[in-house]
Amino acid sequence: MNTTTLKQKFAEIFGTQQAPRVFCAPGRVNLIGEHTDYNGGHVFPCALSFNTYVAGALRTDGQVRLYSLNFEKTGIITADIQHIAYDKKQDWANYPLGVLAVLLKREYPLHTGVDLLFWGDIPLGAGLSSSASIELATGVAANHLYDLRIPNFELSKIGQEAENKFVGMNSGIMDQFASAMGKKGHAILLDCNTLSYQYAPLDLRGVSILICNTNKPHNLIESKYNERRAQSEHALKQLQSKLPIHALGELTEEEFEANKQLIQDPVERKRAKHAVYENRRTLLAAQKLQQGDLKAFGQLMNASHVSLRDDYEVTGQELDAMAEAAWAQPGVLGARMTGGGFGGCVVALVQDEAVEAFKHDVAKLYTARTGYMPDFYVASAEDGARELN
Ligand code: GLA
Repeated sequence: MNTTTLKQKFAEIFGTQQAPRVFCAPGRVNLIGEHTDYNGGHVFPCALSFNTYVAGALRTDGQVRLYSLNFEKTGIITADIQHIAYDKKQDWANYPLGVLAVLLKREYPLHTGVDLLFWGDIPLGAGLSSSASIELATGVAANHLYDLRIPNFELSKIGQEAENKFVGMNSGIMDQFASAMGKKGHAILLDCNTLSYQYAPLDLRGVSILICNTNKPHNLIESKYNERRAQSEHALKQLQSKLPIHALGELTEEEFEANKQLIQDPVERKRAKHAVYENRRTLLAAQKLQQGDLKAFGQLMNASHVSLRDDYEVTGQELDAMAEAAWAQPGVLGARMTGGGFGGCVVALVQDEAVEAFKHDVAKLYTARTGYMPDFYVASAEDGARELN
């Protein structure tokens, strides 16, 4: 849908003459560094060409009206800008409402109401951060419409707070950060402990980033995501009885091995092991990419999947079936689950000339094992949340 159509829909649905402005915020794919963000480690995502778009205009009264062309059944959701509250029945609208609530809590002057019309082309529930992109689309729209002058970096933290405190999903910063700060042609190496980051050129010479959607929907709110986070935090507490660390991401593999007995529960020990090793893999992978060693990068992706499967236990049979099918194909440098897990997508590095055969053969193997039909998208790294003219 182009911006002209979105503007027409805005007039139709809200019945207003006022011309809206249009904004967008992308989804993301994480190349490596999974379940490391809330463990104070590194992540390596890039923003995608899939986006949430929003057409928005301020109102003269205090009403907030929200509508999504992806969830038309929910209809128009209304709220009073002074009294925004979470309500499960508001469904998808809790994401934009959460962002407005956080802005108000931080005392940004949202002095009038607003009409916001959403539409997105990010596959839903696929682990490509459709929720974070709704938050960032709302953030960037509010930022411009109310003239708040908040840097995108800060908008990512506002999005995360909405997700954590309003929606109740204890996610880390990765998704919102990637959606806010994405850069065309680059991945972002983000240190989630300090929030320092650098852009890494994605110079893949003849290799494609292929996203393989299991089409097994994942719902992190109802999944074991919050439990994994609690297990990691408990493991950290036990290590802190001896080590002066703030996060698992501060440990090397050697330091972890020398101290892991401090963690009583073997399951929590495995969770912590993943967080430590995955963080080190991510740093190494970024280095390999810079050196142009995609083969080594791919092998680190494979090791990441195995660790997420065996130690962090967030894959499940669909993601494992997809990764295994990918590993068996010629021209594949590496493949791993991406995002929160428990369904969603696998990301693979595939030589350009092998892509078509890959899709055909992986689909066959995957469907035979799981009964689901997969989808495939070639990813390109794009810019973060912004106004569209
Ligand atoms: C979800 C969360 C992120 C991150 C990933 C796992 O996408 O929103 O913060 O924890 O899972 O790496």
